[in-house]
Amino acid sequence: MRIILNGEIKEIRALWIEDKKRGIVKFLDQRFLPWRIEFYASRTYRDTIFAIKEMVVRGAPSIGLAGAYGLYQALIELRDLNKIIKAAEEIKNARPTAVNLSVRVDEVLNLIKSRFEEGVSFPKIVEETYEKVELIAKEEVEANRKIGEFGASLIKDGYKILTHCNAGAPAAVDWGTALAPIRVAHRQGKRITVYVPETRPWLQGARITAWELLMEDIPYFLISDNAIGYFCWKKEIDIVIVGADRIALNGDFANKIGTYKIALCAKENGIPFYVAAPISTFDTNIRSGDDIVVEERSPDEVLYVRGLAEDGKIRRVLVAPKESKVRNPVFDVTPFKYVSGIITEYGILRSQKDIIDALKKAGRLKRLSE
Ligand code: MRU
Repeated sequence: MRIILNGEIKEIRALWIEDKKRGIVKFLDQRFLPWRIEFYASRTYRDTIFAIKEMVVRGAPSIGLAGAYGLYQALIELRDLNKIIKAAEEIKNARPTAVNLSVRVDEVLNLIKSRFEEGVSFPKIVEETYEKVELIAKEEVEANRKIGEFGASLIKDGYKILTHCNAGAPAAVDWGTALAPIRVAHRQGKRITVYVPETRPWLQGARITAWELLMEDIPYFLISDNAIGYFCWKKEIDIVIVGADRIALNGDFANKIGTYKIALCAKENGIPFYVAAPISTFDTNIRSGDDIVVEERSPDEVLYVRGLAEDGKIRRVLVAPKESKVRNPVFDVTPFKYVSGIITEYGILRSQKDIIDALKKAGRLKRLSE
């Protein structure tokens, strides 16, 4: 992704291994965007768990890779298979909804387990694990690039596109999922405008998507979450593209809170509604959205709003009676019947048969009973 740091244009990923030997992982710190571009250095797997829990790193594919990197750190630190298995559980529990986290941690853990059991030397296990986690990083970026190509074919010149939250490069290692087709369409010279809902309570849209589009010179309007219905009803939106955190076998999917309402508005107004996500976002263990566990986060995220104060400091202010009882589910589940298609690296999936075929092709599903 393109960032401007100290007046210079740079291309970075949302996270990377800074020091292979010592297991130091660097994150673009998403807590401070767009006000400050800061990087968080994680030196231990517990630092990485902190980064996932506190949303230094966020977005399903990025936290999947963070989990893989965290397990590489755990391997270097702990050197003992039982302790590494426990660390893997801790990492997977850092955030419950995005399945990419457990998918990627399990992939790395399976490799480590098999090598320990085969009696492979420790330095060789470290080397192979490093290669594996860097392969996962490459796979994510490549998947997003393909999602961009497939998704851009849906976007016509002049289109007004509604997205939600941030399903951009910070959330997905690079390129983004929902933002990848938008990036590609813009690079193809299509004149597009993106409608960016603020995405209360954490404001991923206002803080991160708006910043990302600004960095890429892609025209956008920041809108309040409550304005979504208005713009759909006015027929100002040509297409909706959102990301996903977990997709069930039947195509029902979890995404940032508010997505379900957008899907209903899109249906009511005849607007095509697409989901963009890599195959690693499918949960092959669940048949429908009813089985998705939705994360509820701290009441403080609703009670307070963080922003840049006039004195140049990042401050939080209370926006409700402090005593209020709060519910803060941060995802919701949208049934597949509202989805025009799921844009993946295997093409655009429009039916349950397409989903099963793509999962089989990706080696994520051998038999339906699995
Ligand atoms: O709580 P977050 O910010 O980690 O949630 C992320 C989302 O829900 C994104 O919108 C998304 O679409 C999935 S990640 C590409």
